[in-house]
Amino acid sequence: MPLSPESKEVIAATLPAVGAAIGDITTLFYRKMFGAHPELERDLFNRGNQKQGEQQKALAGSIAAFATLQLDPDPARVETILSRVAHKHASLGVKADEYWIVHKHLFEAIVEILGEAVTPEVSKAWDELYWLMANTLISMESDLYKAAGVEPGDVWRTVRVAERTHQSADTVSFVLTSLDGSPLPTFRPGQYLSVGVKLPDGARQIRQYSLSSAPTKGDWRITVKRVRETTGPDGTVIPAGEVSNFLYANLFEGDELQVTTPFGDLVLTDGEAPILLASAGIGCTPMIGILDHLAGAGDDRPVSVVHADRSVADHAHRRELETLVEKLPQAQVFRWYEDLGAREPLETVRVGRADISDLPLDPNTQAYLCGPLPFMLSLREALIERNVPAENIHYEVFGPDSWAPAAS
Ligand code: HEM
Repeated sequence: MPLSPESKEVIAATLPAVGAAIGDITTLFYRKMFGAHPELERDLFNRGNQKQGEQQKALAGSIAAFATLQLDPDPARVETILSRVAHKHASLGVKADEYWIVHKHLFEAIVEILGEAVTPEVSKAWDELYWLMANTLISMESDLYKAAGVEPGDVWRTVRVAERTHQSADTVSFVLTSLDGSPLPTFRPGQYLSVGVKLPDGARQIRQYSLSSAPTKGDWRITVKRVRETTGPDGTVIPAGEVSNFLYANLFEGDELQVTTPFGDLVLTDGEAPILLASAGIGCTPMIGILDHLAGAGDDRPVSVVHADRSVADHAHRRELETLVEKLPQAQVFRWYEDLGAREPLETVRVGRADISDLPLDPNTQAYLCGPLPFMLSLREALIERNVPAENIHYEVFGPDSWAPAAS
């Protein structure tokens, strides 16, 4: 259902002012919502993202993009933006009635920031826009819960760690099985699950991890890289990952873990088209899962794998990647390392950042990207230059997606 013509006019007239203030609005919104519902900050939202302002940016970006797309409709783009959010919400067990909580605090924040500019007419138009977006998300989430065979929001289960394996110095993978030995449900290659852990201060924090094995094995495998504290290029300190360090230090064979049913919209599509899997760093995890699936299914599509990492020692699942590629009749892998140590570069193992300009590439390729934003943006640009259509380029962002609006 599109916006009513009256609301459309009001949104068009007020979008510049709301757009300019949306960052302040979403920051105040979270402050208000967490003030009234501290349990949401403690047990549902990622407090690391909140501190860094990432979630505020993602929410603001999605609302501004959705409003813009009501004025200049592009249903496919709306679907792309909302599908990602709906999968993330489903993976967190978000329920329809919680949209009222968000509505209350969001609109209080809008009124507080924009003051008298929020006339009843303006308020009505933005209210309509909010519910258009919320109801679309609620309906997508309801479909996802149905397809997964669970009641709305009932996505959590306890699993046991069957294996813990170091995949690089900072990275461990965990094979997860059911408590009673029954097979865990299948998923689609490329999907992720949420992990919830009780931290020492009593908070239950949740993070998403891609499934790094084929979907039909009856067990699930995730790979966790412990995020160390780093200093960004502009001098800001990026704190150590609370959950990844907790799992790295505390989760061992035999331990139980709370996880959710798999969701995620970056999934391998069926078909005959050649595939490009391009990852950097820990972005390799969904790609390893996809390759494991292709190898297990005897898939004979041409596959090119591109992986970039800091060094050979940092490259998680390095040996497994080679083994999987060897199993596929038409697969090849190209790797880039910023530091190759004392090793000589080869045609397929190069020094520096990933550069696909001289790789064989069919313009019909379906490309899947996962890694830091600058990596994905540069790959996307290079693919478009090589005549791969934008709709063939699929991506997964680890963390809240502030790229959706930027890539439009
Ligand atoms: C994540 C939008 C309602 C809880 C997100 C993201 C967006 C978003 C854009 C980031 C997705 C990503 O790229 O990873 C919205 C919009 C809403 C809405 C537009 C209303 C129309 C809700 C509700 C809840 C909720 C009702 C439950 C109280 C969350 C949580 C996350 C999230 C917990 C993950 C945050 C994190 O991990 O940092 N939402 N959301 N959202 N949303 Fe919503």
